[in-house]
Amino acid sequence: MNYYGTEVIDVQQIKITNHLKDLGINNIRKEIIDGLKAEQKYISSKFFYDEKGSKLFEDITRLPEYYPTRTEKKLLKEIAPELMSNLHNIDIVEPGSGDCSKISILLQSIPIENLKTINYIPIDISHSAISESAQNLTEIFPDLSINGLVADFINQIELFQADNKRMFCFLGSTLGNFNEDVSNGFLINLSSIMHTGDTFLLGLDLVKPVHILHDAYNDSQNITAAFNKNILSVINNIIDSNFDIDDFEHKAFFNEQKSRIEMHLTAKEEMTITSPYTNSIISIKKGENIHTENSYKYSPEQIKKFEKTSGLTIKSMYTDPNKWFALVLFEKNI
Ligand code: AVJ
Repeated sequence: MNYYGTEVIDVQQIKITNHLKDLGINNIRKEIIDGLKAEQKYISSKFFYDEKGSKLFEDITRLPEYYPTRTEKKLLKEIAPELMSNLHNIDIVEPGSGDCSKISILLQSIPIENLKTINYIPIDISHSAISESAQNLTEIFPDLSINGLVADFINQIELFQADNKRMFCFLGSTLGNFNEDVSNGFLINLSSIMHTGDTFLLGLDLVKPVHILHDAYNDSQNITAAFNKNILSVINNIIDSNFDIDDFEHKAFFNEQKSRIEMHLTAKEEMTITSPYTNSIISIKKGENIHTENSYKYSPEQIKKFEKTSGLTIKSMYTDPNKWFALVLFEKNI
């Protein structure tokens, strides 16, 4: 089980270490229960990604309406030769690595003799995502050494510390799941552990016509709805609660003022939720929303501001012809 696991996989060139237990299961339960008791109820979007949730997200990335993954992968393919063909003796660190399909596009452009000198460090909250993708990667890149970390990369950023030369990749607009304070904090912390010459490739989803955004989060096959509702099963497992996922409706809309897609779960009926980890009962009214995700959409001006926030320098910014998605390459200069 994801949040208790202590196991370590160590075969050939794959090593996976689970750090989630260091957060303390009781702290995780408290975080969930605090969110359910808040005036505006919320569940952190990191809880989407159990084994089933990670699979559902991979299904989302293949939906015709969900443009971000497709657009980003096409861009990665275009820039990979320029970015990767001279890389050697370096750690590639990827928070939120998921199925590793994005990094494998970049790795394709590293010459085989250089691949032997590279250490890939995927970091993800989903143990199954890390172990499955590490095994897939070694099949494609038998010479690559992989050091996976099962961790919460926002709260366990100290795990990134190292003396090695590094390239950080934070793709998929995962930064967009965090509000300004948290994402600025992440960029500041990341910058502080980078050394001069280290680079940081950041994938960000851009502002675009609302109907395109709306359709990407309200797909016709209801996969996004299933992904959203699955978070309640994850929560039931962690706090032994009694959510019935059929009691909720998927809701996703673009909040123009905050420039973000919001996902919520709307209660169809009034209900009471109980958990052995809290003395009080949690009552939910008919029509009440549980906020499950923000997905910020950026403008070029906002991206430019990340330079000031982080103290990193933008070396290049790549976008597709529609300007739907951006890959931003930062470098640490001081
Ligand atoms: C991978 C977290 C960036 O916000 O678009 C997809 C997750 N949520 N459909 C996103 C997601 C609903 C995705 N991120």
